[in-house]
Amino acid sequence: MRVFVTGGAGFIGSHTLVQLMRKGADVLSYDNYCNSSPEALSRVKRLAQSDLAIVEGDICDPGALERAMGDFKPDAVIHFAGLKAVGESAEKPLTYYKNNIAGSIALLEVMNKIGCSKIVFSSSATVYDPDKPFPFTEDTPLKAASTYGRTKHFIEDIIRDWSAATPGSSAAVLRYFNPVGAHASGDIGEDPVGIPNNLLPYISRVAQGSLKELQVFGDCYDTADGTGARDYIHVEDLAGAHLAALEYIAGAKGCETFNIGTGTATTVLAMIRAFEAATEQSVPYRITGPRAGDVSTTVANPSKAEQVLGWKAEHDIEAMCRSVWNWQVRNPNGYRTPE
Ligand code: NAD
Ligand code: WQD
Repeated sequence: MRVFVTGGAGFIGSHTLVQLMRKGADVLSYDNYCNSSPEALSRVKRLAQSDLAIVEGDICDPGALERAMGDFKPDAVIHFAGLKAVGESAEKPLTYYKNNIAGSIALLEVMNKIGCSKIVFSSSATVYDPDKPFPFTEDTPLKAASTYGRTKHFIEDIIRDWSAATPGSSAAVLRYFNPVGAHASGDIGEDPVGIPNNLLPYISRVAQGSLKELQVFGDCYDTADGTGARDYIHVEDLAGAHLAALEYIAGAKGCETFNIGTGTATTVLAMIRAFEAATEQSVPYRITGPRAGDVSTTVANPSKAEQVLGWKAEHDIEAMCRSVWNWQVRNPNGYRTPE
C-alpha cells in the first residue's frame, strides 16, 4: 500500500511512519517542519530499517502538494499536518483557520485531482461539548471550546461532505484523547519547543531538573482527588489505530468517526505518582488555581474502535511514563541532542 502522510515528522506522525514502514507500506512524508525536525525522519528510517520518500512542503501550497502526490500516486492519505496549540489558537485564529482548514481543503482538492479518495484524519477529543456526560461516545454532541478545536470540528464536517460527494470515497476521522509516551527505543518522541504546555512533557522536564516544579492546575474538580482527569493514550497504541483505520477504509465507503482512547481517566496527582514510581525520579509540585479553559474530566468510550476497527489500546500509564522518561534521558534537548 502507498500512503501519503502529511505531518509525518511530528510526534504522532513519526511513530505511525515506523509502524507503517515495518508493515511494508511505501510511505511519503510531506511536512514543512513548522513544528518538527527532519531529524525525526532520519531516526524513523533507522528504526524501521527501510527508506521512505520525503518532501518538504506546505499543505497550503496546492502546486507543491499536487507535484508530490501526483508523482507518488498514493492509495491513501493520513492527514496529521496541522497547528495544535490551544492557547496560541486564541491569539492567532486566522493562522489556525488558514493552516488547518484551508490546508485540509487544498489536500482534498489535490486528492480529487489525482484520483485518491481514502483518508484518515487526526481529529481531537476537544471537539466534544465538555459539559456533556462522560465517557464520550462518538454521538456525544460537539461544541469545541477553543479555536483549535473548532478547526478540527470544521475539518471533520468538510471531510464528511467531501466523502458524501465523492463516489467510492472512504474516510476515518480519529478523535484522539491525550496522546503521550514515546517509542520504546527512546529514539523518537514528543519534542515541544520551549516550555511544554502538556502535562507529561512538563513532568519529565521537572524530573530532569530543567524546570523547578510542576504547577498542578486546580484541586477542586469533581474527580477522585480533585485534580483534572484525562484519558491518556500511548502514542504507540495511537499509531496502531492508524494502521487499523487504513485497513478499514481500504474496504469501506463513506465517513466514520472513532474515539481513540483507553476508556480510563487518570488524575494529575495519580500521573505524578505513576511517573515517580515508574522512573524513580521525584517530581516536586505545587497546587495552584485552575488553568483557564480547563475542564474536570475527559474520557473516551473507545468501544466503537474495538468493534469496527478491531483496535484496542494496550499500554498502561506506567508504560507511558517509562517511555517518556527514556526518551527524555536519551535526548535531553530533544532532536537537537547530538547522537
Ligand atoms: P506535531 O506538531 O508534532 O505534528 C504536526 C506536524 O504537522 C508537524 O511535523 C508540523 O511541522 C506539520 N505541519 C503543520 N502545519 C503544516 C503545514 N501547513 N504543511 C505541512 N506540514 C505542516 O503534532 P502531533 O502531536 O503529532 O499531532 C498530529 C495531529 O494530531 C495534529 O493534527 C493534531 O492537531 C492532532 N492531535 C494531536 C493531539 C496531541 O495532543 N498531540 C491530540 C489530538 C489531535
Ligand atoms: C492534562 C491535565 C491540566 C499541565 C490538551 C489540548 C487538547 C489535546 C491534548 C490536541 C489537565 C493538567 C497540565 C501542567 C497541570 N491536544 N496540567 N499542570 O489540556 O487535556 O489537552 O492536549 O488536540 O486539545 O487542550 O492536556 O496535558 O495540557 O493537561 O496540572 O503544567 O494536566 O490542568 O488537567 P489537555 P494537558
